[in-house]
Amino acid sequence: ARGRAGAGATGGAPVREELMKGKVCVFGSFNLDIVTKMSRFPLPGESLVAHSSMMGPGGKGSNQATAALRAGARVHYIGKVGNDDFGQFARRHLEKTGFDAITLFTCKEKPTGNAMIYVAGDDAENMISVYPGANLTVTTAEVNRCQPTVAAADILLVQLENNLSAIQRMVRNARQAGTYVIVNPAPWQKVSAAFLKNIDLLTPNSTEASQLTGIAVKDYASAQRAAEALHATGVRQLIITLGMQGALLSTEKYLAHIPVYPAQPVDSTGAGDSFNGALAARLAAGEPLEQAALFASAYASVCVERAGAANAMPLYSDAIARMQQYPELTVTFVEQVSAEAT
Ligand code: RIB
Repeated sequence: ARGRAGAGATGGAPVREELMKGKVCVFGSFNLDIVTKMSRFPLPGESLVAHSSMMGPGGKGSNQATAALRAGARVHYIGKVGNDDFGQFARRHLEKTGFDAITLFTCKEKPTGNAMIYVAGDDAENMISVYPGANLTVTTAEVNRCQPTVAAADILLVQLENNLSAIQRMVRNARQAGTYVIVNPAPWQKVSAAFLKNIDLLTPNSTEASQLTGIAVKDYASAQRAAEALHATGVRQLIITLGMQGALLSTEKYLAHIPVYPAQPVDSTGAGDSFNGALAARLAAGEPLEQAALFASAYASVCVERAGAANAMPLYSDAIARMQQYPELTVTFVEQVSAEAT
């Protein structure tokens, strides 16, 4: 386990001068996003004029891979697109992003995934409709071809925007190789308890934590109840992100609050992806779980100040600057579950 048990508080920017580069493998979706900014969300049956519209790279997998890269990791991205114009756009975009390597499978039958995204309101909230297309067609043979890549990584990071059969097999292969596994259960798909037991770190948002447990998660207290329920089913470490309330980090050894950093939101698309990619990058670099989570929170606060998804991912230095701007924001350990466990 990479987490640290203890009580008290920790915070501020990491003291390490040099940026360690761990290896992160991200298996996940690529979507072509069309992001439209509006003064408010349209009502059913209503046509509403937008302020702006842009097309760009998205998909939770590609976004998280980009975040991990820009947060300082060496990244191998694995995804699948259609045999179409959007698929060619994806390949061109991914090839120039700066990943160590990409494995991009092509599906002949289904188109590249796409997402229609509305952004509106003071918090730049979004509404997303996703058509996963080729993302749902990853075969067993394709997963098994990725085994050496997964085995060579420090961390495998996956979401739930691909077919569950492929995600499960990828996770199983990683576990067998001793690779640390992070699962961001977005968008929500029902997963088995056996699957949850197989992972090292689960990172639901409040909605997904509610769907996982049946507990309405809306604040730290309810998130703590959900965390206890998840630990009871075998989840060892989890971070429940709570939007403007920060995040709850819970392991079998300790419980901590991760603060949210102030931001001037422009577009919240990809905020969760930025958190997960940055978290994976800093864990792969060897940082303790709570410090990596604090960095990820700062990183996400910079991400929401930029429009778009993959293209909005900040640099490592942007997040460090945000942490230095608010040195008073710290991780707070709220409970030591077991003295023996320390
Ligand atoms: O998390 C944001 C992403 O969700 C978007 O880029 C969109 O493609 C959907 O997958």
